[in-house]
Amino acid sequence: MSEIAKLQVGDQSYEFPLIKGTENELAINIKTLRGATNGVITIDPGFKNTGSCESAITFLDGEKGILRFRGYSIEELAEKANFLEVAYALIFGNLPTSEQLEKFHSDIKAKSVVDDDVKKIIDAFPKTAHPMGILSSLTSALTAFNPSSVNVESEEEVYNAIVKIMGKFPVLVAWTMRKKQGLPLNYGSNSLGYIENVMKMMFEQPNENYEINTIVKNALDKLLILHADHEQNCSTSTVRIVGSSHAGLFASLSAGISALWGPLHGGANQAVLEMLEAIKEDGGDTKKYMAKAKDKNDPFRLMGFGHRVYKNFDPRAKIIKKAADEVLNSLGVDDPILEIAKGLEREALSDPYFVDRKLYPNVDFYSGIIYRAMGIPVEMFTVMFALGRLPGWIAQWKEMRFKKEPIGRPRQIYTGENERPFTPIQKR
Ligand code: SDX
Repeated sequence: MSEIAKLQVGDQSYEFPLIKGTENELAINIKTLRGATNGVITIDPGFKNTGSCESAITFLDGEKGILRFRGYSIEELAEKANFLEVAYALIFGNLPTSEQLEKFHSDIKAKSVVDDDVKKIIDAFPKTAHPMGILSSLTSALTAFNPSSVNVESEEEVYNAIVKIMGKFPVLVAWTMRKKQGLPLNYGSNSLGYIENVMKMMFEQPNENYEINTIVKNALDKLLILHADHEQNCSTSTVRIVGSSHAGLFASLSAGISALWGPLHGGANQAVLEMLEAIKEDGGDTKKYMAKAKDKNDPFRLMGFGHRVYKNFDPRAKIIKKAADEVLNSLGVDDPILEIAKGLEREALSDPYFVDRKLYPNVDFYSGIIYRAMGIPVEMFTVMFALGRLPGWIAQWKEMRFKKEPIGRPRQIYTGENERPFTPIQKR
């Protein structure tokens, strides 16, 4: 294959180099396009065909349903690794040795106390506030309590910012949930593992000794691994573009949390549960909701279905669906909406509307069923997505800053009024 792409604009032809990745993906490098063509640009709403960067962190193949973090398959990581190991691999490039993991965890624990004044910010929120709005605000507020913006020339400063946010973010997640439940804003214990500590902070009741349920712990570990990164999705692209202006890590993460909140993105796991509940309340009539999802005049979408990249099964959905059965059986939870979800999946996978559009269950379709079985409120589901995605956002921000990527500033095609004279208000 020639290493160039040819483009014809009018009677002029242009050549642009091709970039090939380590998995043989090809991109046309159009860095010189506007200059070479005297102003012609490309346009691609939603960036469905446009790459924003070259990245060594995550590889996914939407046609084959492949997902790998730093070359390790998601299936192996979900089965054999723990979340902190995966976080380390995403951020630093390789799975850690036991010494490296030990040091990473101890450095995180050393930075996991949050300034008590943050509680005053939490107190200011109404109990009706959505947890994602609280979490985004608290994450941005960390900048105020940790003013040193990250000097990326200093590896030590970057490392300190990373262990700070890896330590403080779970506290903010737990406090966000406990605020809405009217529970004291507590800490876990540095004697516990990373996930166990998250569970203690989230679930401990003030008048009981908290016992770690290993079924929940293993399921939570696996869920957070599955959510840890996903290349240039909406929220990760947000973290990258905010960071490209040299805004700090915490401010960039806060923007990513806001992007994740949307029901077309991470907010879908909450929307799936609400949809399944509505179908259950409506007598479990899945066919009615399938018809709504296919009706172009009906804004209803089958939440948890479809994906920008996966035109085959989302590999994460397969793992989560299996885990949902295991966790609910082990916990002795009989949740009728699991059967409703499976019924929707069966119908969609044999319905030409979904088959023709390659719409399969995505990561959000089954995850909420497990979170609910764990006793996590539905409004907290997307917060759990953010907890899992944190290391991926950190890794992507770090890669973008270390590579000194330029500030993100897309062009546009103007379609407004042509020049016209100012009209005094008396004459309008
Ligand atoms: C996540 O990008 C990532 O990697 C995200 C993520 C990650 O880990 O970061 O994987 C996490 O966000 C998963 C996706 C969660 N969102 C949902 O489950 C919401 C429901 N799904 C859709 O809204 C939709 O599928 C998107 C947003 C996920 C993808 O939208 P696209 O790629 O822009 O596709 P589209 O909207 O152009 O749809 C193509 C066609 C359209 O029909 P036609 O106009 O061709 O007739 O498929 C239809 C759509 O109407 N369609 C759906 C549908 N999803 C797409 N129809 C009914 N129900 C759906 N869920």
